[in-house]
Amino acid sequence: MSFWGERKKMGLSILIACFLLIHHVGSMSVERSTYIVHMDKSVMPKAFASHHHWYTSTVDSLSPVDPSVVDGSRSKASLVYSYDNVARGFSAVLSKGELEVVKKLPGFVSAYRDRQIKLRTTHTPEFLSLNPSAGLWPASNYGKDVIIGVVDTGVWPESRSFLEDGMTSSPIPSKWKGTCQVGEEFNASMCNAKLIGARYFNKGLLASDPNITLTMNSARDTLGHGTHCASTAAGNYVDGASFFGYAEGTARGIAPRARVAVYKVQWPEGFQASDFLAGIDQAVADGVDVLSLSFGFDEDLPFYENPIAIASFGAMEKGVIVSHAGGNTGPHYLSLFDAIPWTVTVAAGSIDRSFAGTLTLGNGLTITGWSVFPASALVESFIYYNKTLASCDSVALLLDQASFGNIVICEDTGDFFNQLEVVARSRAAAAIFISKDPDLFTSADFPWPGVVISPRDGPAVMNYVKTSARPLATMAFKQTVVGTKPAPALESYSSRGPSRTYTRLLKPDLMAPGSLVLAAWIPNKSAARIGSAIRLSNDYKLLTGTSMACPHVAGVAALLRAAHPKWSPSAIYSAMMTTANALDNTNNPIRDNGRNRTFANPLAMGSGQIDPNLALNPGLVYDLTPQDYVNLLCYMNYTENQILTVTRSKLYHCSKPSPDLNYPSFIAFYANGTTKNTTATFQRTVTNVGDGPATYKVEVVAPAGSVVTVSPKMLFFSNKYEKNSYSLSVEYKSDKNGMVTFGSVIWVEDKGRYRVRSPIVVSPEMAF
Ligand SMILES: *[C@@H]1O[C@H](CO)[C@@H](O)[C@H](O)[C@H]1NC(C)=O
Ligand SMILES: *[C@@H]1O[C@H](CO)[C@@H](O)[C@H](O)[C@H]1NC(C)=O
Ligand SMILES: *[C@@H]1O[C@H](CO)[C@@H](O)[C@H](O)[C@H]1NC(C)=O
Ligand SMILES: *[C@@H]1O[C@H](CO)[C@@H](O)[C@H](O)[C@H]1NC(C)=O
Ligand SMILES: *[C@@H]1O[C@H](CO)[C@@H](O)[C@H](O)[C@H]1NC(C)=O
Ligand SMILES: *[C@@H]1O[C@H](CO)[C@@H](O)[C@H](O)[C@H]1NC(C)=O
Ligand SMILES: *[C@@H]1O[C@H](CO)[C@@H](O)[C@H](O)[C@H]1NC(C)=O
Ligand SMILES: *[C@@H]1O[C@H](CO)[C@@H](O)[C@H](O)[C@H]1NC(C)=O
Repeated sequence: MSFWGERKKMGLSILIACFLLIHHVGSMSVERSTYIVHMDKSVMPKAFASHHHWYTSTVDSLSPVDPSVVDGSRSKASLVYSYDNVARGFSAVLSKGELEVVKKLPGFVSAYRDRQIKLRTTHTPEFLSLNPSAGLWPASNYGKDVIIGVVDTGVWPESRSFLEDGMTSSPIPSKWKGTCQVGEEFNASMCNAKLIGARYFNKGLLASDPNITLTMNSARDTLGHGTHCASTAAGNYVDGASFFGYAEGTARGIAPRARVAVYKVQWPEGFQASDFLAGIDQAVADGVDVLSLSFGFDEDLPFYENPIAIASFGAMEKGVIVSHAGGNTGPHYLSLFDAIPWTVTVAAGSIDRSFAGTLTLGNGLTITGWSVFPASALVESFIYYNKTLASCDSVALLLDQASFGNIVICEDTGDFFNQLEVVARSRAAAAIFISKDPDLFTSADFPWPGVVISPRDGPAVMNYVKTSARPLATMAFKQTVVGTKPAPALESYSSRGPSRTYTRLLKPDLMAPGSLVLAAWIPNKSAARIGSAIRLSNDYKLLTGTSMACPHVAGVAALLRAAHPKWSPSAIYSAMMTTANALDNTNNPIRDNGRNRTFANPLAMGSGQIDPNLALNPGLVYDLTPQDYVNLLCYMNYTENQILTVTRSKLYHCSKPSPDLNYPSFIAFYANGTTKNTTATFQRTVTNVGDGPATYKVEVVAPAGSVVTVSPKMLFFSNKYEKNSYSLSVEYKSDKNGMVTFGSVIWVEDKGRYRVRSPIVVSPEMAF
């Protein structure tokens, strides 16, 4: 103990000495502010070993003081961050004069003043551009009078996200027939004007195993998943929410004024399809408008054996919008299991937010890296580096060699998550991880002090360690950076099409934020840990998965339902898909973290990232009736009974079997390994949902090596709700290497008001 304490003191005295030095040398008369400076790294002079050196030396040269000095004072120009992954450049505290010097440097791109960002916890509303002054939020009254049913693990009714503040001025919609079911630790007064209903379903589970003892026989959530999802879709405003200081701000759902009803069907003891069906059945009867389904069956089930497909067909018939998580079984093709034509299938992407820790070396070099360590420790210690141990894969070796209380270096020769466990068990003070594995930015489990730095920053640290007799470092945690670029990126875990249930429909449909989403958590279950023994509880938690993306889409759908009460579910799916954004916040195509950050294709992300404000006024929609979906089931050669299983009604017929749903996307297949040309032809009908007459002209981006022909090339509408049809054919050559190519067709309104975009994919037949 004293060992660590002594070292701490030493470090502290060094910092104090530096501080004094500045006080004497610095001139206090110049006013400085922080600027963000973007640089063109390609013109970096060869003399610099890394971008970091370049930027440091640039900033240091502005005011000639001891370059190893770093402090918070504004007595000299100083570097704040250097950026290389998400942006190229740096931020620095500069005077106006120094900024002018920077602007004349080779490689300068742009600079602007840093501004105070008001952090928002859930933050994803801002990331999706939801805004109180314009667009879908005001147009929908924030989802007022819409009811979102969350079929999941139940709810923690005391969560601040489900308080009824601001919801009591209007009555609960009269169509609501639900109830607040009494159960263990759950009484009828736990529902309110926000959480308007709660029910639980476990008869199927108990039937499957009468020996089961339920831990919580009520709608109360003991797993946390349902509470998280419900608050993401429609949580109320909660100030001061955070994950142990990360992502701090005001939490709220996408549709903050929508009502929530929960249906607990998933239990710690198990999950039966029968309970699930009963839950949805009841939800639709109760009068929900939107269903959020953050789970699925990761097996090949035909629609008629898949309770999600079955239950959601009935929901769709009644006008209920169903948002369904695509699954977390990526990144391989055909990893999408139960993508259902009459639900919107949601893929997951990253958020423009990063959690950081700062590593400061004894020589003053400061590196901002990744950390979600959940405590406020300020670690200060000597660095221990031994190349043979730097894969950090042996607790015994680290315990033996690394000396208790040191900061160890773990290189990217081992699996990061395993390294984190090893370090936590080795009693090292902390670790510097060198890694760029994109998956690590999706996990909030960070049980030991540490900072992950990029391999580009590695050499600077190694150089310091090798040249210093007693290399010293400090680490500080709990920083949140928003506005990081590029974002979103499609996540590795997100399941990819073609959909195994029916390949000839392009799925997933679109993507939404899914990684490290902060939403309500249950206080009785640990939210984070330190080492293996210390469990921390918290009422908000960062979670990752398509489960988290799904309630975002449910929330947007609720807002659209409020704005367009008469639209069919498929019209709303179409509005969300044709306005989705295939570009990231650098205006480049969205990248795929599961494929070395190459451009994500529509088999991974569908039409792109959901854009709620554009979805409000899509211009045209591709509408579908329940019979249209049945035509697809007929084409699939389902027997009468199989179809009836899904439709429950003989009102439907099989006189027009068709594989060609009026869907806002296109997929064509070729036989892999062959070389012949194929033509696929599609028929589509679009409905004008803009006000009054409109003229649209087609724009085509053909997949590489394909010829796309659209006929007619212009569509004229004289009235709202008028329909027009077109055909689209893709002539494509089979690709010997089995390449997936993609493009799009965009109907552009001639006054520039609307762009109605559909992806086109040419894919090899894939076997599974
Ligand atoms: C419901 O439970 C809460 C908290 O335990 C309690 O304060 C309240 O009186 C109960 N209400 C009824 C109607 O039993
Ligand atoms: C229930 O418990 C009994 C006694 O332990 C056991 O014999 C039986 O197999 C169990 N039933 C199930 C379905 O697990
Ligand atoms: C590095 O670790 C290895 C394996 O424990 C050990 O044999 C070696 O002596 C260590 N090197 C130094 C310089 O401590
Ligand atoms: C939560 O914890 C409290 C206190 O430990 C306990 O009384 C209560 O039963 C727990 N509730 C649940 C739902 O586990
Ligand atoms: C990503 O790049 C690595 C190294 O170049 C390569 O081994 C790997 O196969 C690539 N993965 C994918 C999915 O393209
Ligand atoms: C349906 O059955 C017909 C006749 O047996 C067959 O030609 C067709 O390929 C089948 N369609 C599908 C989608 O399996
Ligand atoms: C095959 O398709 C390509 C374009 O996709 C076209 O250039 C070529 O002429 C076609 N070949 C034949 C034999 O039709
Ligand atoms: C298509 O065939 C090529 C060559 O045999 C093979 O490398 C590729 O993996 C195949 N692609 C698919 C999707 O089956």
